[in-house]
Amino acid sequence: MSSRTDPVTAAGLRIAVIGLGRMGMRHVQAARNLGMTVCGVADTAAQALRSAQADHGVAASECFTDADEMLASVKPQALAIATTAPTHARYVQAAARLGVRHILCEKAMATSLGDAEAMIEACRRSGTDLAVNHQMRFMAQYTRVKALIGSAELGPLSSILVAGSNFGLAMNASHYFEMFRYIADAPVRGVQAWFEEAQLANPRGAQFEDRSGRILAWSEAGPSMYVDFSAASGWGMQIVYICRHGQIVVDELNGDMRIAARQAEYRDLPTSRYGMPVDRQQIAIEPADTVMPTMAVWSAMLEGRPYPDGAAGLHALTCLVAAHASHEAGGREVRLDDPSLPRDRQFKWA
Ligand SMILES: NC(=O)c1ccc[n+]([C@@H]2O[C@H](COP(=O)([O-])OP(=O)(O)OC[C@H]3O[C@@H](n4cnc5c(N)ncnc54)[C@H](O)[C@@H]3O)[C@@H](O)[C@H]2O)c1
Repeated sequence: MSSRTDPVTAAGLRIAVIGLGRMGMRHVQAARNLGMTVCGVADTAAQALRSAQADHGVAASECFTDADEMLASVKPQALAIATTAPTHARYVQAAARLGVRHILCEKAMATSLGDAEAMIEACRRSGTDLAVNHQMRFMAQYTRVKALIGSAELGPLSSILVAGSNFGLAMNASHYFEMFRYIADAPVRGVQAWFEEAQLANPRGAQFEDRSGRILAWSEAGPSMYVDFSAASGWGMQIVYICRHGQIVVDELNGDMRIAARQAEYRDLPTSRYGMPVDRQQIAIEPADTVMPTMAVWSAMLEGRPYPDGAAGLHALTCLVAAHASHEAGGREVRLDDPSLPRDRQFKWA
């Protein structure tokens, strides 16, 4: 988790955006909300550029179909990369070479471990700040939980259950590995995975592949996380945080948090007394949104506060690669520091 010491003002910062799909347009919005000057946008699809002009008022002279040409021409100080994953590594490295000072790259950070490592190295050499848009620490659905965990009311975290549906393990589980790191204050050390065999069409194009199935992730600090993203399930994203004295259930899509915790006089009884009387609370939280937390990642990076950096992106990516290795080995446990994890294998993540 990086932070810098010399704060930079967002207002007036010249930013470019590469990739103007659904997420790229949100990056344009986030940059504008922060008072940045959008000086160039690039997308290989002419239709995306037309939408940027029509819906977001981007000037035709700032629109490019060739991102390399755009970078060389407008020389931005900051860059948001919201293409699909196969081009993240190339554009981060090109921008770092050209001296772009601050880059926010979408997840999945890259399509191989080697590419992610090369991105980090390129930014280290050029002194570029690199953030990966795993915004969990800036979302109320996680900050509220983090504040409760370890409190007298809930006690320490035991484990996390991610009850999803057909969300795609790379598309979404990568966010949950970062969420785990943030909530548990500990990186994932190893995983076991069992993917489903059937593969559904990928919403971002037939060239992409994502898997559904189950992943168990564990840390050395104690807590573990079980992610269930089955193609057989078509509703919901609910997270259960199991703690010593109670449980927190968050319905992330509907912005609802329910807390049940043992009443104070029963807290210290053995855990085997699981039926003790509880106090209940139901709290409304902001439903998941991407613009506001993306703004928060920029602000943290520019102002010198902790933000999800290249190491955070690489951690999530390593979890995914280890999950593939585990699945292919029949669900055996694979550690993230296993030297046999493939560095050069390219995955078809979007
Ligand atoms: N952080 C989050 O919460 C979050 C949410 C949604 C998507 N994402 C990530 O954002 C990225 C984009 O997702 P999306 O839903 O906007 O996808 P999308 O398919 O809607 O948009 C991708 C855009 O990139 C353009 N593009 C592809 N290759 C290009 C290239 N070489 N140069 C320039 N433009 C190119 C495409 O034409 C398209 O307009 C993905 O990596 C996705 O995983 C992150």
